[in-house]
Formats: sequence, structure tokens, C-alpha cells
Amino acid sequence: PSMVKCPRIAIRHYPMRVQGALAWVWMGSEEAMLRLPAPPATPWLEAGADWAYATGHYDLFGNWILMAENLMDLTHIPFLHQASFNFPKAFAQAPVKLEISGDRLSYYRDNPPNYQRSGFLPTEASEAIEAAGFQARSTVRFVSPALTHGGGRFVLDRPGAGAQPTYEWQVIHFTTPITDRETKYWYFFARNYSLDDRALTEKLKTMIVNGFEEDRVAIELVQVMHEKDTHDYREVHFKSDAPSVAMRRIVAGMARREAEARRSPANASSIDQIEQIAAE
Ligand SMILES: [Fe+2]
Repeated sequence: PSMVKCPRIAIRHYPMRVQGALAWVWMGSEEAMLRLPAPPATPWLEAGADWAYATGHYDLFGNWILMAENLMDLTHIPFLHQASFNFPKAFAQAPVKLEISGDRLSYYRDNPPNYQRSGFLPTEASEAIEAAGFQARSTVRFVSPALTHGGGRFVLDRPGAGAQPTYEWQVIHFTTPITDRETKYWYFFARNYSLDDRALTEKLKTMIVNGFEEDRVAIELVQVMHEKDTHDYREVHFKSDAPSVAMRRIVAGMARREAEARRSPANASSIDQIEQIAAE
């Protein structure tokens, strides 16, 4: 502020948009940002919403897509996270339905056996759900390379006194690449039950912090294998890999379109703005 003209000591700055609990940074021009659609909705993280959440983060040694693949196959939960999340083994056997829409996909399991006994629900909620009779669904949505979210939803047939008509949790995962082998990872666990129960928020926070450390160990081992293992493996897909393979196809398609846009500026989208800024 003491000088009208500065020597070249400035740092580059980027436009930012705050939405709910998140700050989204657009690494191109403000003009280009204004032409973009709003960032994906995250209603579970909005102030005043009917949700309470716990959150955590870490730097992962691993390419971001390994985390995305991890989230595309939740059959690992009753195995890798057995001690942390207490999902029944039968969760992994429930059939997976996959739906693809443009660059997004979702997959779900209907009525996984004993899903209501998951460690994410307090005992009284599990019992209220069981007593009422219910339909349950576990869903995961790949929204963009930066955002995957998913959760469990229970709709009660005949909710008793004090029970809610629905019980739901959402786990929201954000990834930002640091390099091709390191990733910033943020996660939120949001719930629509026992909103004022701070002890439950603390318990869930401990549960997800411990549980997502288990993912870190598994993913880092996969990254090391990609880098060091020289065996010539044959790729084998299991049924539960269908969402992962579909997600990889979506990402490959996005990369291909971006490369095409670079080659022919006439068809370029706002992504070109990033290129221009980088060139400047
Ligand atoms: Fe996991």
C-alpha cells in the first residue's frame, strides 16, 4: 500500500466461490468462471440445513483416481473397514445396479441385509428402523473428478412414536490432485438424525477418521505397486468393478474432449481459458 507501482513480487490469485462449507477455486479467469455452471450442490453442508456433519482431511500418497476407484467399489467396506464401520458381510453380496448419465454415474444396492445395523446409526435408531419395517438403499454418485458422494437411506413403513420417517447419512468426498502421485483428500460425514447429539458427532468423527486411514493404507499400497511392481499382470474385472470401469471411461472421455478442444480452439470450452492464463 505504500507504493503506486510494485516491483514484481506479486503472487497469482484466483477467483473463488463460497458455497455452504466449501470454497471452490477456479484456476482460470474470472470472466470464464462467470460462464460456468454453479459448483455441484452439497445440501448436506449448507448452514441451517437439516443435517449435522463431521469432517476430516489428509494428503494421500496416491493418484486421485485410485481414491475415486476406491469409492466406486464399496464391497471393501465390510472387509477393510470391518472394525471401524461394522457393515454386515452380506452388504458385499447385494447386487449392484449401475446408472450412467453423461459424465456422471451412480450405483446402488437395494435392501442390503442387516444394513440397519451399521455402526453409522445409534442403537436406538437401528431399533426404531427395524421395529417400523423399512426400505433401504445404499447409493454412490460420481459427480465429477473432484466430487463423489454416497450414503445410506432408510424409509420407514410405519414409524413409531419418536421415530423419523427417514434416516439418512451422506459421505461426501473431495479430491484435488497435488501431483500425479499425491492428492488432497477431504471428507464429510453428514446425517439427518440425532442432529443435536454432539457426542454422536464426535463418535462419528473418530469412526470416519480411523476408517479413512484404512483407505489411505490400502491406496498407498496400490500406488507403490503401480510404481514398483514389474510383473506383467493380466487385468481381471469382477462384477463389483463395473462402476470403476464406467468411471474410468467417463474420465478418459473428458480427457479426450479436453485434448480435442486444445487442438481446435473453435470447439474449445472454458477450459481454454486455463490454457491462456497458463500461457500468459
Ligand atoms: Fe473405504
